[in-house]
Amino acid sequence: MARIVEFTLNGRKRLDAVPDNLLLLDYLREVIGLTGTKTGCDGGECGACTVLVDDSPRLSCLTLTATVAGRRVDTVESLGHDGRLSAVQRGFHEKLGSQCGYCTPGFIMASAGLLRKNPHPSEDEIRAALGSNICRCTGYVKIIEAVRYAAELHAAGTPP
Ligand code: FES
Ligand code: FES
Repeated sequence: MARIVEFTLNGRKRLDAVPDNLLLLDYLREVIGLTGTKTGCDGGECGACTVLVDDSPRLSCLTLTATVAGRRVDTVESLGHDGRLSAVQRGFHEKLGSQCGYCTPGFIMASAGLLRKNPHPSEDEIRAALGSNICRCTGYVKIIEAVRYAAELHAAGTPP
């Protein structure tokens, strides 16, 4: 069965008929073609599929599209404006927070969600906010540095 779902995706209104069992991850990648959100474990374990729903990180592989009706969904494609990277994107780029990059969109969205709610996080708060995201490559030190730097950029006026 399908239903009409209205919500805001990356700042734009969407009105789509979606099957009740359509996962948000599949909607984003297969229906809309926004492939920045990654499929990793497909089971709620890795965080690669993280998006923001009303500014809170959400695993899109565990979220039914119908449940975001009336909500605001942001994917990694929403970040950066007028050719300028967001604070978190710059942090990961300049502090070498990614290697293969597969996990990076999930880390970036979890970090963006953190900075939207807590612009001055401690290292413990950063680690807690990224606790649902797994990286096979970096050892996490560079990722933490990237988010700390992103918080500095955000404090100086760059959107997260
Ligand atoms: S793909 Fe969603 S948590 Fe791994
Ligand atoms: S950079 Fe390769 S999995 Fe994180």
